[in-house]
Amino acid sequence: MTKQSIGIGLLGLGIIAGQVAKVLLEKADLLAEQVGCPVILRKIKVLPVDLEKEPARRLPPELLTTDEDQFFADPAIDIVVEAIGGENPALAYLQRAISGGKHLVTSNKEVIAKHGAALKTLAQQHGVGLRYEGSVGGGIPLIAPFKYDLVANDIKGIFAIINGTTNYILTRMGREGIDFPSALKSAQELGYAEANPENDIEGIDASYKLAILSSLAFQTDVRPEDIYREGISRISRRDFQYAQELGYAIKLLAIAKQIDDAIEVRVHPALIPEDSFLAKVDGVYNAILVEGDLVGKVLFFGEGAGALATSSAVIADVISSARDIVLGISDRATVKLDSGKKIIPMAEIETQYYLRINVADQPGVLARISKVFGDHLISISSVIQKKVDEETQTAEVVIMTHPAREKAMQQTLQKLGQLDVVKEISNFIRVETD
Ligand code: HSE
Repeated sequence: MTKQSIGIGLLGLGIIAGQVAKVLLEKADLLAEQVGCPVILRKIKVLPVDLEKEPARRLPPELLTTDEDQFFADPAIDIVVEAIGGENPALAYLQRAISGGKHLVTSNKEVIAKHGAALKTLAQQHGVGLRYEGSVGGGIPLIAPFKYDLVANDIKGIFAIINGTTNYILTRMGREGIDFPSALKSAQELGYAEANPENDIEGIDASYKLAILSSLAFQTDVRPEDIYREGISRISRRDFQYAQELGYAIKLLAIAKQIDDAIEVRVHPALIPEDSFLAKVDGVYNAILVEGDLVGKVLFFGEGAGALATSSAVIADVISSARDIVLGISDRATVKLDSGKKIIPMAEIETQYYLRINVADQPGVLARISKVFGDHLISISSVIQKKVDEETQTAEVVIMTHPAREKAMQQTLQKLGQLDVVKEISNFIRVETD
């Protein structure tokens, strides 16, 4: 039977859900035109406390319900849009919606990163679509390109700035020479940092997003715990100063690379050449560089967060799901996760390194340090002696290496730490020049 209309049920009424509800109501004509029949917001499942808040007061009261059983049993709802965020209770809601035969749209990066594979299987079993374009990069199209437009490619790599908060902090530090705590405070005042800033600062948010993108890119179930992760709190003003003198910017990068038939996945701060495109991505913007064997390098850039941008992705998913329902199909693109590609242990990856160490300012020190590198077959590309402290008779030395294996570098760091002339290993940052 031809569908007369498509019903939407919205879970949550936070900033993103409020914006999604607004677009569903205000752009109803556009949605109907795109889908071929009316797309009607039927119910919004809220918490009792939400009823007192501004978005709820702007909406027709008959749309709101606090009764989840009533919401999930509503036969007029064809598509459930989840915009609660976080792992729980969102996961249980998603499972319940799919099991009830509802198509699903979510922008929940944590749930998709951790449970995407199981949810996709459940959705396939129930013949419904599972869409999550808003989960990575706000409104930047990323999931659909991997599912449709880039599907003919063997993906070689993803290099991405996918956390706006840390990019804002690093931009302020690099431009203004301010320290990390002041830049973080400013990001919090502007409302950029997540409720728990650790999620941004420690690269957790970026690792969720990289898990989602690399699973799609390499048809492998990459989980957040598979991703090597380091945050930005150790980066100091001095690192910026030296990086800039050497011609580099510092960014929190999410990297996924295919090497032979295996992949490496990592999130950490990195020095990147200041004339590279990613080095010029400033503030809260996101940029995702993807390299495929056929397409070459393609770049996605834009606002990586915010209600307006995210609603663009969520509504597009609603339209795609509604079109599928009208056509009587679940989802044209089945995501496969069975490529069998192994994840390369971090110890085996190869990259270049920047090292800032504090050493005794006396003859023979550099020779002893160089010997440790040589013993581990690591080639040094430059050594610069910076600040000398007359009082403590110490000097700061910045060392750059040629490509080396992480395991050898970690052993080198350990040995350097044991030298009596090395007072402190102040920082150690990977350098990406691809
Ligand atoms: N905290 C995230 C960011 C928001 O800073 O990019 C969007 O996921």
